[in-house]
Amino acid sequence: TRRVRTRDLLAAKERGERWPMLTAYDQYTAAIFDQAGIPVLLVGDSAANNVFGHETTLPVTVDEMLSLVRAVVRATRHSLVVADLPFGSYEEGPTQALRTAVRFMKEGGCHAVKLEGGRRYAAQVEAITGAGIPVMAHVGFTPQREHTIGGYRVQGRGEAGDEVLADARAVAEAGAFAVVLEMVPGEVAKRVTSTLTIPTVGIGAGPDTDAQVLVWQDMAGLRGGKAPRFVKRYADLAGVLTDATRRFADEVRAGEFPAAEHTF
Ligand code: KIV
Ligand code: NA
Repeated sequence: TRRVRTRDLLAAKERGERWPMLTAYDQYTAAIFDQAGIPVLLVGDSAANNVFGHETTLPVTVDEMLSLVRAVVRATRHSLVVADLPFGSYEEGPTQALRTAVRFMKEGGCHAVKLEGGRRYAAQVEAITGAGIPVMAHVGFTPQREHTIGGYRVQGRGEAGDEVLADARAVAEAGAFAVVLEMVPGEVAKRVTSTLTIPTVGIGAGPDTDAQVLVWQDMAGLRGGKAPRFVKRYADLAGVLTDATRRFADEVRAGEFPAAEHTF
């Protein structure tokens, strides 16, 4: 089967079909998600945290992102690959945003880009989509603004629900093919989803969005520690890998590995 297209995602919304999305940052996991039928993979700037070990998403660079994007694109056949424009690579204006998006398409080989922001960055969305590059927008809680927002906080409670709707509307009107709603009340996400004709992708936004996204290391339990409330762990990869590592180490220390069958 062919690569998923943005129009397939619009058609899914029209049919009332939900779809899953995951982050991906390297070839083996991307190939697994591709073969397991995840239609959209996001090379998120959450690589800053989940790959490079930073505390926030802010430090990751365009060049670091491009290496990951190339790996994910090379490893997949079916999934539509979306790449996050990192902090600092689009805020200056539509010209900078388009220049960065073009680099991701040419040098990364991805099929769409994503940026954070609603009304504030609608001009960027318009410039990029105007050049024929599909854009996924991201509203509600936007991690690149965490120092302004004051940490990971639910956005759009009470009256502020209208702000989230206005942001989502603005990027849809500017040409975005989908919009991520992060950490907004379920009722707000439901209202945005029924108002817009483009798909909404929820993370911490309740069950009524058109799609759901999680960081794969959260989904598969590779990341230890306390997960945010919106995360569900579908496996304990940290436990599996710890166990394998201990057994390998024990067998080396005991002289049991390598055995005859591993030896030339
Ligand atoms: O970078 C990321 O992982 C994201 C998703 C969580 C939407 O932006
Ligand atoms: Na992101």
